[in-house]
Amino acid sequence: MQIFGVDIGGSGIKGAPVDLDKGDLAQERCKVLTPHPATPDGVADGVKQVVDHFGWTGPVGLTFPGVVAGGATVLTAANVDKSWIDTDARALFSGRLGGLPVVVLNDADAAGVAEMEFGAGRDRKGTVILLTFGTGIGSAVFVDGVLVPNTELGHLELGGHDAEKRASSKAKEDHELSWEHWAQRVQKYLAHVEMLFSPELFIIGGGVSRKADKFLHFLDGIRAEIVPAQLQNNAGIVGAAMRAAQLA
Ligand code: BGC
Repeated sequence: MQIFGVDIGGSGIKGAPVDLDKGDLAQERCKVLTPHPATPDGVADGVKQVVDHFGWTGPVGLTFPGVVAGGATVLTAANVDKSWIDTDARALFSGRLGGLPVVVLNDADAAGVAEMEFGAGRDRKGTVILLTFGTGIGSAVFVDGVLVPNTELGHLELGGHDAEKRASSKAKEDHELSWEHWAQRVQKYLAHVEMLFSPELFIIGGGVSRKADKFLHFLDGIRAEIVPAQLQNNAGIVGAAMRAAQLA
């Protein structure tokens, strides 16, 4: 079966039909730039362009980089325009897409759902935590393969700071940190999350998962196994489509 997935990020809105048997894109994805400011209306226009590019007329799953209640309502917007807060994103996107059935979920939750089925978390029981390091830090917590949605562990307080301000990959760029220096911050963060949840496995996602050889060896003193995500750039699109399959 094929279902359409869209990943809404700070820099791009990316989407493609997904082959749900393979857990991979069925066609090359289409990307448009996220408008700035990334208001609901502007983002909805971008989503429409991406979906129309394929002439898609079935269910659509979308990720959003904030808390999304009940597959619909955005409750937080740490790194996008604040006018998203309390927006019914499902109604907005469905309306803009001519009434197509739509579901919306948190971006890290979507990436996690895909990794648990097709990637680094396949067949893993116990507590598994996927963390995405990008503009912010996203989290997806699984217990025996079941997602606890909207966990927002990127906003834990670390040394008096919002953790994502210290340890996201944007923080690495903003403060021009070496891989080793950044990894020290990530290690402190992982130790804190481990103290709270004692997971069996951490999956490290986001753009940095492609560069795991640059920093994974700096992380020590963590009891849990630490592995890079496997689906990389497409995890959000695949996870969003998996969720929307429930609408088909
Ligand atoms: C948001 C999360 C999101 C993460 C990654 C955080 O700032 O609060 O909801 O998953 O960034 O985009």
